Amino acid sequence: MTDKKPTEILREEHENVLKKLDALEKVVSNLDKKAEISAELKELASFFKTDFWIHFAKEEEALFPEMENFIPREGGPTGIMLIEHEDLRATNEQIQGAVDEYLREIDNSKAREMIQEHGSHFIGLLREHINKEDSILFRMADMHLDRPQLDKIIKLFGDIEERYKRTQS
Ligand SMILES: [Fe+2]
Repeated sequence: MTDKKPTEILREEHENVLKKLDALEKVVSNLDKKAEISAELKELASFFKTDFWIHFAKEEEALFPEMENFIPREGGPTGIMLIEHEDLRATNEQIQGAVDEYLREIDNSKAREMIQEHGSHFIGLLREHINKEDSILFRMADMHLDRPQLDKIIKLFGDIEERYKRTQS
């Protein structure tokens, strides 16, 4: 068991994601240099295809439901975060398809356009989203969640990690 609060764990994950977004932004602005950027693009696409979603699962399945004991989902901040999660999921699907095509095709001008368009939406939205969670949502969580709720969330985080590991092995 960790002594960290759930929001501390999620904040640390946000920092890692923000670094990945910086790297992605750089790669997306250099799509004309395919030989140079392919390896990094592949690695970043793989992160946003799999590992990244553990973080969303922790929020959606563990943190948000506990917060919804004191703030309603409908019209409240968790409801808004969930709408943004859906936008990010759909945008990521587009990016993944375009990255596959970009890496596969020699003439990849269409894929490049797609990566640029959906990539910049994804990067901008996710940065804003993280900022909102860090500065508003997690503060509310820190104010309201009691010890039993914190323990429950931490336990669920462990279950989610385990579940993810099983799908990877
Ligand atoms: Fe988050």
